[in-house]
Amino acid sequence: MFLDCSFSPEMLSELQAQKELDALAKELAHHDALYYQKDAPEISDADYDALSQRHRALEKLFPQLISQDSPSLKVGAKAVDGFAKITHLNPMLSLDNAFNAEDMHKFVERVCRFLNLPLDKQIEMVAEPKIDGLACSLIYKNGELMSASTRGDGHVGEEITANIETISSIPTHLSGDKYDHAQGQTLEVRGEIYMSKKDFAALNEARLAKGDAIFANPRNAAAGSVRQLDPTVTASRPLGFFAYGFRRFDDKGLETHSQRLDLLKVWGFKVNSLIQVCKTTRKLWTFHEALEAKRSHLDYDIDGSVFKVNSLGWETRLGTVSRSPRYAIAAKFPPEQGSTTLLDIHIQVGRTGVLTPVAILDPLTVGGVVVSRATLHNQDEIARKDVRLGDTVLVQRAGDVIPQVVKVMNPDRSDRAEPYVYPDHCPACDSKAAQEDGEVAVRCLAGLICPAQAALRVRHFVSKSAFDIEGFGAKNVDLFFDKGLVKTPVDIFTLESRNIGLGKWEGWGPKSAEKLFEAINAKRTIGLDRFIYALGIRQIGQTTAKTLAKVYTSYENWVEKMVLAANGDEDNKDYQDLIEIDGVGADMAEDLMHFFSETHNIDFLKALVGPQIQVQDLIIEDTSNSPIAGKTVVFTGTLEHLSRAEAKSQAENLGAKVSGSVSKKTDYVIAGAEAGSKAKKAQELGVTILSEEEWGALIS
Ligand code: IVH
Repeated sequence: MFLDCSFSPEMLSELQAQKELDALAKELAHHDALYYQKDAPEISDADYDALSQRHRALEKLFPQLISQDSPSLKVGAKAVDGFAKITHLNPMLSLDNAFNAEDMHKFVERVCRFLNLPLDKQIEMVAEPKIDGLACSLIYKNGELMSASTRGDGHVGEEITANIETISSIPTHLSGDKYDHAQGQTLEVRGEIYMSKKDFAALNEARLAKGDAIFANPRNAAAGSVRQLDPTVTASRPLGFFAYGFRRFDDKGLETHSQRLDLLKVWGFKVNSLIQVCKTTRKLWTFHEALEAKRSHLDYDIDGSVFKVNSLGWETRLGTVSRSPRYAIAAKFPPEQGSTTLLDIHIQVGRTGVLTPVAILDPLTVGGVVVSRATLHNQDEIARKDVRLGDTVLVQRAGDVIPQVVKVMNPDRSDRAEPYVYPDHCPACDSKAAQEDGEVAVRCLAGLICPAQAALRVRHFVSKSAFDIEGFGAKNVDLFFDKGLVKTPVDIFTLESRNIGLGKWEGWGPKSAEKLFEAINAKRTIGLDRFIYALGIRQIGQTTAKTLAKVYTSYENWVEKMVLAANGDEDNKDYQDLIEIDGVGADMAEDLMHFFSETHNIDFLKALVGPQIQVQDLIIEDTSNSPIAGKTVVFTGTLEHLSRAEAKSQAENLGAKVSGSVSKKTDYVIAGAEAGSKAKKAQELGVTILSEEEWGALIS
């Protein structure tokens, strides 16, 4: 495998991102199959994480490219033929990863925010070792084991009941009696099957002696042993099982995850003895570091820690997002590193003008992957690390995928090059480049005049999710751009009337020229959401564009409100309305304001919309039959039981639009404690005002 994804996602055009996403999806599917079905992975976990994180980073920046069968939405690989299939009662999810203490703190803050708690609230968590084996789901009825299955694709797994009956730490009949207080109901126990390091070494030794292929690590040995069609083979392989959770029909009487673990012990399961309840966030990281120190002394493989919110009430409220729960996170042990010589530093210019330094390295292998380029992030990082050409640098492939330069290994040597001087001019257009207020990134200040930015922006403008002009792909954009015929998107629509004689160009004929003009003319009308997205404003991806289109509904209204917001002071109503839109927030608003405060952007819009194209209003379809589908709701005041985020997410999941301000169009105002002007306005306008309880009753 050769991974060379040192280009930050920001630098990619949509087309490039699409290509890379496709390639990554294929590669991930290939490795999933090797890992889950054949138990014979070709790459390390860290390498797999790197690919998967890169995939997610790209999807985050290009949300419009998320396909329905995206690897980020599925867990594991399809169950293999030869085993009966079992559909899981609850999907078997995976965990989000934290790679450092900061990620850890962010996780706790996210939990607090969601639960409407102060951000520095100390949330009691259960800290567990992350066992490096294979996940297993066990179904019990009235205390008797009914079936066992592997994770498979997270929804359907392979039935391995006969095989796991040979694992002594999995009880076939539960002890105690609390399992059956919901008579006849199902209990599902989850845990990890593993092979001890000692048993793994003995197994491999025996296989070597017999001339059989050896297993690469205990996890593969465990997975290979469980997934034997002949259970007698499994029986001959010593396997263990750590239970880490369960679900059942009736969980009354249980308040915490640690009580759950205690109950598992009562029923006869082995629960890992290193598990601890941590009352403060600081203790979580202490646990993690202590666990890492113990790692090599343990007789089973672990690859990190898992932290879970202890309160089951909170666990339920937090729920899950796409393929992982909000109430838990895995902290992985540190990434792989290696050192090499820094040969050069290249500066790349992205669509939004950001200059990014890329380290050109003497190729080295880090965790089985050849790395020849790594990110140096930005000017400040180069200065902070004092990275100079010719230095020996430590390179790391961390969770955030793009290989990065961590530090200089030999800063004291006498024959060092001079400190690196960061360019103050754009390498693409030679215009001035500088840091803007409060920004770390150095940006080319030329805007659309910069060919690197302008061409990439035009490419974005005509891309599939934007104007989607057939036959006007990256190649043609560059062609017209290089000839100076298309400098901004407006020029696309005047190509035909400028009589450029395209039909006579090399490689073109009258037919193909006509076809291109037809394709351009066919796109002179566009929906508002696509149009907003096409503008390529920083951070405004497809999802945000849709949100904005839904809120502002017409082009004229949107532009009017944006201009007013950009030109007023920080408290102006239009700006406040904008930042209160769910999914927008101050950061994105800042970028929108930046766009609308530039006169050349306003001139561009004037030259485009009207003279060249029409933007259609957004039509909101009401498909759901939920009582609040299509309704506009406003939350105000302090809600007692829900955070704003949770309340908004609930309402939106039921098809409502959550707005930040009250108008005649508002259907419901949900007023919490100390509701002020919004509740008053609702009263004046005759809008229905609901208490938090009434709202709860309406949507329940
Ligand atoms: S909790 C949403 N606890 O790690 C899944 N998982 O990515 C909740 N794992 O394959 C799982 N040790 O089987 C949990 N103490 C632990 C674990 C653990 C290992 C595995 C799990 C899954 C993966 C999660």
